[in-house]
Amino acid sequence: MTSSSPAVSIPTPPANGSFDPATIATTVRTAAQWLRRTTALWLTVAVAGQLLFGVYVLRFYGGAAWRGDFAQWSAVMPRGWVPGDHGGNAAVAVHLLVALVICIGGLTQLVPIIRRRAPAVHRWMGRAFVTSAVLGATSGFWLQWVRGGTSSLPQRLGTTTNGLVILVCAWLAWRSIRRRDMSTHRRWALRLFLASNGVWFFRIGLMFTLLAFGRPIGFDPETFRGPLLVGLAWAETIVPLGLLELWLRSERAATALPRWAMSALLVLLSVATGMGVTGAAMMLWLPHLR
Ligand code: HEM
Repeated sequence: MTSSSPAVSIPTPPANGSFDPATIATTVRTAAQWLRRTTALWLTVAVAGQLLFGVYVLRFYGGAAWRGDFAQWSAVMPRGWVPGDHGGNAAVAVHLLVALVICIGGLTQLVPIIRRRAPAVHRWMGRAFVTSAVLGATSGFWLQWVRGGTSSLPQRLGTTTNGLVILVCAWLAWRSIRRRDMSTHRRWALRLFLASNGVWFFRIGLMFTLLAFGRPIGFDPETFRGPLLVGLAWAETIVPLGLLELWLRSERAATALPRWAMSALLVLLSVATGMGVTGAAMMLWLPHLR
């Protein structure tokens, strides 16, 4: 290559209009490499954000429990600790405990080196993740519909749909691994991972809008109700799962174009996720860790 030639060149079709198969194979391989790199980029940002969420849950809720100051839970979570309601408080404790497993479990399940070098860790964490997802969703139903919170009915229905999707994904991920159907298991495990992080997507989505607009839009910060929150409660499941379907299709595509398009989208999503995580860390999580 001369010093003036571009770093990336787009192959031009020969005079008869058809591409050389070797050139096509190289372009598809390069696009596949970029898809892997940009996927790793998004996962790195997302896993870092989940670890921060996990550290917050451990330090804030776990720290208050360790000191015996359970009333502190209600400082963030509406009706987090209700004196005398032993069953309800136990359900909140279970909900928070499994949130930790989900935040840390994502790391161990998705980082390839852990999967390759420590398959037993992957298997055990997989079981813990599925169990935690089921417990997180069922205790969440209880929190939402029995103990009751401040959110509106359409918002509750959105979060409840997230819980139902978690249960379906957990069941299908579990069933496929029992049948040793690895490719089906991979797809349902990825769907379970994203659906189980719905509450995390809600938070980073909300903080993204606060950073992007510099003020609350689409909701009332006093009552914590509004169309943005309803939209986020539904989007926390639909958007990540929809994007995953696009990613799975681009991964299997015969041509390079879907992979390039997905890679470009993943770069944008990494920036947006990074902004959301930064906002959530600054406004939601770090202030409670001092
Ligand atoms: C399995 C995935 C889930 C995880 C990891 C999870 C995690 C959490 C965490 C960490 C909190 C504390 C909030 C904070 O301090 O910011 C919380 C609160 C809460 N969760 Fe979940 N959750 C999950 C699923 C659900 C589902 C499916 C529902 C409802 C059907 C639900 C309902 C609630 C409610 C009502 C609260 C009280 C605070 C609020 O209204 O936001 N959760 N959850």
